[in-house]
Amino acid sequence: MKNCFSMALRYENGQISLLDQTLLPREERWLLVNNPTEMVAHIQRLAVRGAPLIGVAAALSLAHYAGKGASKQECHVALESLRESRPTAVNLMHAMDRMRPALEAANFASLLEEKAMEIFQEDVQLCERMAERVASHIQSGDTILTHCNTGGLATAGVGTALGGIRRAFEQGKKIHVYVDETRPLMQGARLTAWELEKLGIPYTLICDNMAASLFQAKKIQKVFVGADRIAANGDSANKIGTYGVAVLAKFHQVPFYIVAPETTCDPKCASAAEIPIEERNAAEVRGTNSPQNAPVWNPAFDITPRALITKILLDSGER
Ligand code: MRU
Repeated sequence: MKNCFSMALRYENGQISLLDQTLLPREERWLLVNNPTEMVAHIQRLAVRGAPLIGVAAALSLAHYAGKGASKQECHVALESLRESRPTAVNLMHAMDRMRPALEAANFASLLEEKAMEIFQEDVQLCERMAERVASHIQSGDTILTHCNTGGLATAGVGTALGGIRRAFEQGKKIHVYVDETRPLMQGARLTAWELEKLGIPYTLICDNMAASLFQAKKIQKVFVGADRIAANGDSANKIGTYGVAVLAKFHQVPFYIVAPETTCDPKCASAAEIPIEERNAAEVRGTNSPQNAPVWNPAFDITPRALITKILLDSGER
């Protein structure tokens, strides 16, 4: 397989490695991933995360496994367990469904490799197209709010919403980004702030519960966020807290944009009612500040109904 690199995923000399996103920003540690069982565990603990990147990482992991001599039957089992490793981001299912037909052929290892490379390169291109589109919606002087992390850490390319913000900055537009810290796992505080810092883009970190005051003070001109799955009617699942931001944006008449590649759209889900929402471990919410056994509800995503979305910005167009 040819080598390929992104900000958080490398395929190099027959080895896959991941930048362990659970350790950022304190430590930049790359982990070798030896087989799909390890990849499933890294996807589930969010060492690799972001809807597009988990699809790409799963595809590379499967191709790598076949290249190391796994049988067709072993690859089938691995494909299904990678596909089920996280339930909401549909990019993962789409990537695995695109890999599956290769398992019918005698030369399945080389076909899986070709397909995985195609999925990687395609994601880079999709990000480029989204970046141009998002940047065209940003004017110099804009103050932007974003939630979670949608940059180079979450895709094989420059990112979705954050990729567009970056593009606008590179075009010379004077912008300022407010970053929701994104409880409970702090993808905004740990990852988006880390990316913005590296890029030199001016930003301010806020706790999630400070966003309302910012809107009230008319400090936000536009909101750009990503998505994990977009239903046929435009209802969009994204990181928990996105819905609250959308409600605020609607109340304060601030444009609210979802940014995603076509690979995030799920025509099989008619509406939000059919999107499965991942529920995660109670320990992520409890932290050190609550009673040790406090009952917890920890959904990883929420749904923003289409009516609250000004526009869905896709690589292929706007809805
Ligand atoms: O749980 P995560 O960190 O994988 O959630 C990520 C998000 O919700 C992102 O906004 C989404 O995947 C889009 S990433 C380009």
